[in-house]
Amino acid sequence: MARYFATTPIYYVNDVPHMGHAYTTLNGDALCRWRRLHGDEVFYLTGTDEHGLKVQRAAEENGLTPQEQADRTSRRFREAWDLLDIAYDDFIRTTEARHHTAVQTLLERCYENGYVYKDTYQGVYCVSCEAYYAEADLTDGNCPIHESPVEEMAEDNYFFRLSAFRDRLLAWFEAVPDNITPERYRNEARALVRGGLEDLSITRTSLQWGIPVPWDRKHVFYVWYDALTNYATAAGYGTDDERFATWWPACRHLLGKDIIRFHCVYWPAMLMAAGVEPLPRFHVHGWLLVSGAKMAKSSVVQIAPADLAADLGVDGLRYSVLRDNPFGPDSDFSYEALVQRCNSDLANGLGNLLQRVTSIVARSAGSLGSAPVPESPLGVVTEQAYASAAEAWDRVQPSVALEATWRIVRETNEYLQAHQPWKLDPGPARDAVLGDALEALRIVAVLAHPAIPRSCAEVWRRIGLAGDPSQARLPGAAIWGQYPGGLTVTAGAPLFPRLSAD
Ligand code: ME8
Ligand code: MG
Repeated sequence: MARYFATTPIYYVNDVPHMGHAYTTLNGDALCRWRRLHGDEVFYLTGTDEHGLKVQRAAEENGLTPQEQADRTSRRFREAWDLLDIAYDDFIRTTEARHHTAVQTLLERCYENGYVYKDTYQGVYCVSCEAYYAEADLTDGNCPIHESPVEEMAEDNYFFRLSAFRDRLLAWFEAVPDNITPERYRNEARALVRGGLEDLSITRTSLQWGIPVPWDRKHVFYVWYDALTNYATAAGYGTDDERFATWWPACRHLLGKDIIRFHCVYWPAMLMAAGVEPLPRFHVHGWLLVSGAKMAKSSVVQIAPADLAADLGVDGLRYSVLRDNPFGPDSDFSYEALVQRCNSDLANGLGNLLQRVTSIVARSAGSLGSAPVPESPLGVVTEQAYASAAEAWDRVQPSVALEATWRIVRETNEYLQAHQPWKLDPGPARDAVLGDALEALRIVAVLAHPAIPRSCAEVWRRIGLAGDPSQARLPGAAIWGQYPGGLTVTAGAPLFPRLSAD
């Protein structure tokens, strides 16, 4: 059986969840749901990154202990994901015991293999990045990413011999052409490796809020060393070898382009140093950038997913975010565009289609649905849409997959417009048109489930099918002609209300 292990970054608990976090997490959820529809065994991992100076300082500012800060904010992330119907299989917190074990085990392996040594470190540090910078990389003396002041630090540290991995990392790029997608980020990561790698300080004595180094307890692990290891922890590293061996080969990481260096350079080197194989795959996306009237005064990091879900509905938010913001490039995130997308594709598209079909059947066919015609032109449409969608999901392009899926919605609405079943007398001609439309709705409910699971379950129920589209299995469920006819169809309130942009 195929396995699919997908991860999001673990989010810092200094701040509450925002739409940037939701973007990665939603894409991962949709990809995992798509794989589950194919019968894959899926493990979807998310969680929170709870150690380090940034969190320690946020706690101080809030008058909390770091543990209290972590507990409160981690709960906020979990609540946000529950609200958005994110079907995660595990939610890891780096303060958990299983994670301490994994971090310490990984370090011991790296140490035994000769890739860890002790030395004094002096440099400039950006707390927002939780990273040291070379003077040459600063912008006017400030952090190149946050443009905020950096701090001088000097400490006795343990170092990871990152410099030893240049050739092996380059060999990995040679051997695995799709180790990092899309290509632009692969090139970016490869350039970082080619540019030369300095050893990495992986412990701190200047802060307490971290995982202690087992044999030298005045040191705690550098937060990034700790954080990256979460992916291995959750798969059982250090606690359940058999489970780890099962899941690790199926691992792929989703992340924003801000953390390429850590994920696509440091982490593979850490895994090589510890003798862990194979290396995971990486799917990198760009920034959501804010424009549009309602959000004009804020950046994406100030938009709470719950606020948008209250306006657009959970599925309205899920769909419009996935459909409008392709995975890879930076994209313009505008409230107006989301509203417009909900109206065009959900209210006027799928919602209207469902409403038309179910109300005719309820009004004039005794609420009994009819079967589709085997040779219907909509059968060709659904077959092609499934093929395009499947190819797009495989390339980690949810927005393209949804575009393909919505071709079925559009063509079916046009088909109804062309045949006007509401004007036809009861009989085989009318039954055929309605049966075709019901069958198209059945297939859309399966193919759109990864994006809008709740609404698809409701479509399923209203056209009289038992169970839930999540139980359907692709590719079989996309084959035309399975809607049986004779089921009780229910007309109900519009599935998606029409929204206004203010
Ligand atoms: O970096 N657009 O956590 P973090 C799109 N704890 N995605 C965005 C975004 C935006 N404007 N803003 C944030 C950390 N993201 C570390 C990770 S992993 C071992 C440790 C998303 O809370 C995107 O996925 O700063 C980005 O990589 C992540 O949030 C950073 O979250
Ligand atoms: Mg960040």
